[in-house]
Amino acid sequence: MAWEFSTSTAAQTQQLAENLARLLQAGDLIILSGELGAGKTTFTQGLGRSLGVREGIISPTFVLVRIHPNLPDGPNPGGPDLVHVDAYRLGSPGEIDDIDLENTMDSSVTVVEWGAERVEHLAASRLEIELVRAVGGDTPAAGTPAAGTGGTGASDVEGTDALEGTFDFTDEDDDEPRTLRLHAVGPRWEGTDFSALGQLVNTTE
Ligand SMILES: Nc1ncnc2c1ncn2[C@@H]1O[C@H](COP(=O)(O)OP(=O)(O)OP(=O)(O)O)[C@@H](O)[C@H]1O
Ligand SMILES: [Mg+2]
Repeated sequence: MAWEFSTSTAAQTQQLAENLARLLQAGDLIILSGELGAGKTTFTQGLGRSLGVREGIISPTFVLVRIHPNLPDGPNPGGPDLVHVDAYRLGSPGEIDDIDLENTMDSSVTVVEWGAERVEHLAASRLEIELVRAVGGDTPAAGTPAAGTGGTGASDVEGTDALEGTFDFTDEDDDEPRTLRLHAVGPRWEGTDFSALGQLVNTTE
């Protein structure tokens, strides 16, 4: 079953993610897709806020995996950690297996940007969320592929926290409409109604 939402601002996308986070528990897998700058990291920031994990969620371009531990003095003490993965430069499910997400999955919500067709095998159930820029109207804002994502790929460090919390997420883009398509897969989500997460525009079987 799939739900389609629209948001008009980055804040609304984060609010939708915050609402979703209230349904999440340790072991859940979220696969994010959508072009560069679509809002995958923005969405993950909303998840992180509501899960009450350590801040500093950024596009983990040079770090494949970042673990944001649950904060005992946050809004959700004792809840799951957030494991944030960027699979952009990972080619195959085999390379994903090399980074050993199984180790952290049981105690975390695992969110994988660019995870489609790469990490489905990690869990029997998952939420697939695709973020799409509105088409037809304005030309896309700055955010076409640029430096930073096509890098050397030579020195990825797995699971490091060296950069954690170091940078603020800078936001220079204007707010634009986005469509978010949520596809719930597997027994974990059977019967769950996501309609109230945000501004619903469509549902499909
Ligand atoms: N409705 C919206 N929802 C989400 N983000 C929006 C929206 N409108 C504008 N934005 C802006 O679009 C940008 C999305 O960037 P973000 O880093 O989240 O994308 P991304 O999908 O993670 O990209 P990448 O593939 O490079 O990691 C942010 O600057 C955000 O403020
Ligand atoms: Mg990102």
